[in-house]
Amino acid sequence: MRTELSFTPIAGIQTELLAVLAADTQTTKGPDARPQPTLLAKDPAVEAAAAAVLATGEYKAGVTETVLLHAPAGIAAKRLLIVGLGKLAKATVHSVRDAAGTAVRFAKPRGIREVVLALPDSDSLRGGIVVRAAVEGAFVGDFDADTYRSDRRDQSIQTFTLAAAGEADRAAVEAAFAEGVIVGESQNFARALVNEPGNKLTPTILGQRAAEMAQQVGLGWEVHSTEKLHELKMGAFWSVSQGSPEPPALIVLRYEPEGVKDGPVLGLVGKGITFDTGGISIKPADKMEMMKYDMAGGAAMIGAMRAIALLKPKVRVIAIVCAAENMPSGTAQKPGDVQTAMPIAPDKPGKTIEIINTDAEGRLVLADGLTYARQLGATHLIDAATLTGAISVALGKINAGAFSNDDAAYGKFESATAISGEKFWRLPLGDAYADLIKSDIGDIKNTGGRWGGAIIAAEFLHVFAEDTPWIHLDIAGMAWVEDSRPFIAKGPSGIGVRSILEWVRSYEQGREPAS
Ligand code: BES
Ligand code: MN
Ligand code: ZN
Repeated sequence: MRTELSFTPIAGIQTELLAVLAADTQTTKGPDARPQPTLLAKDPAVEAAAAAVLATGEYKAGVTETVLLHAPAGIAAKRLLIVGLGKLAKATVHSVRDAAGTAVRFAKPRGIREVVLALPDSDSLRGGIVVRAAVEGAFVGDFDADTYRSDRRDQSIQTFTLAAAGEADRAAVEAAFAEGVIVGESQNFARALVNEPGNKLTPTILGQRAAEMAQQVGLGWEVHSTEKLHELKMGAFWSVSQGSPEPPALIVLRYEPEGVKDGPVLGLVGKGITFDTGGISIKPADKMEMMKYDMAGGAAMIGAMRAIALLKPKVRVIAIVCAAENMPSGTAQKPGDVQTAMPIAPDKPGKTIEIINTDAEGRLVLADGLTYARQLGATHLIDAATLTGAISVALGKINAGAFSNDDAAYGKFESATAISGEKFWRLPLGDAYADLIKSDIGDIKNTGGRWGGAIIAAEFLHVFAEDTPWIHLDIAGMAWVEDSRPFIAKGPSGIGVRSILEWVRSYEQGREPAS
């Protein structure tokens, strides 16, 4: 998708489709209150073209509600699409992101290859953050998951133009626009990885894709495999990999901005299970095919690193993705096996883990990933993983789960989500949960019973993060969009990329904390 920024008045823009936003400005309540759809484009010609349909009451400017006008009188565009934001009082920058995606997804199946979106002309929806969100939303909307259809007709939008005629500070708009492009492309980069099936994206191939990207954007990178796992004594990570003929990949991406020699080192750790059968504790066949997206946490970290490399915040970042395939086989680990995790220092013993369920594999690979990040100097940790089915039981498919041992780090993450629009809900940690994974034979076991499964998984990771400020994101319920929405296709969501990026930027040297 090509992107352009235009400062010409929208009525004069020749295009296949001009999209403008509308909101319901009705504030009174009660049985007689009718929606009051109001155009957020203060252009007399566009207002005139839309006046008739807005007067009918047929169109209410509800959230993502659209109405299309062909050959609108008095404006240069061939079509005028009105996209609703819902109640103006409730509309946010995130509504604009979704509206942009809605415009793009409206155009795609209709063979419309160019979209011009007019920024909202509204005092409550202004500034760089809205510009950025609109561009991000367009990218989110442009993605479709049907990449392996042999008769696939590429319906991608060729040119997306953001019309910003009403904005006074052009330099700020241009900067925000450029940011939006980087973030949108990085999110889609992650989604494309998540979409790949297990046979097309083995740990080795995930490593290659990460390395190619790293080379393109100028990140430092290393991709290790079996030998290095043994050398580092990554017994937990290896125990998952040992059942598969596909070798594991320990992917390390480094962002070291010039001149930044001190301050925090942020460690991003991602679960990269390219397929999760459950191993010997095998999963039921129903929906097992979905387990190709069990590397969504790793993909989020790779996507975030791409954006970080291009946006160049002044803070050091290191990402570690632990990629493996969880398979049952004659070499697979068994329930009851005891594994020794990577030690935090060569002269210290690694913690011993009793394997109760080989399907609780994500926490095993992350245990060694977190330890390795700390060993490489990470002062703050964030991990992302499709870790538990239990997180969906707790939070549904509305919020992803978040956990932290550090309120300051989590505060920054919360501010980051206010910018990203990704929905996370913090859940508790606590010794009483940690007690549930004490093992009779070793230090800890990898499952702790039926209740509070997402919290217990988080407490397992906490054992390895120890006192290092750490955030754990359980994205199992949110990494895959099960039913398409007006602004996003069914398929991988790319959740995490935007929030992790903003969290990283919040540690930038000399940057004011996000309000
Ligand atoms: N990858 C799964 C979690 C998952 C479930 C992700 C559904 C996406 C959608 C994870 O490895 C897993 O199998 N977790 C088990 C843990 C249990 C054995 C303690 C689970 O949630 O059932
Ligand atoms: Mn599993
Ligand atoms: Zn898994």
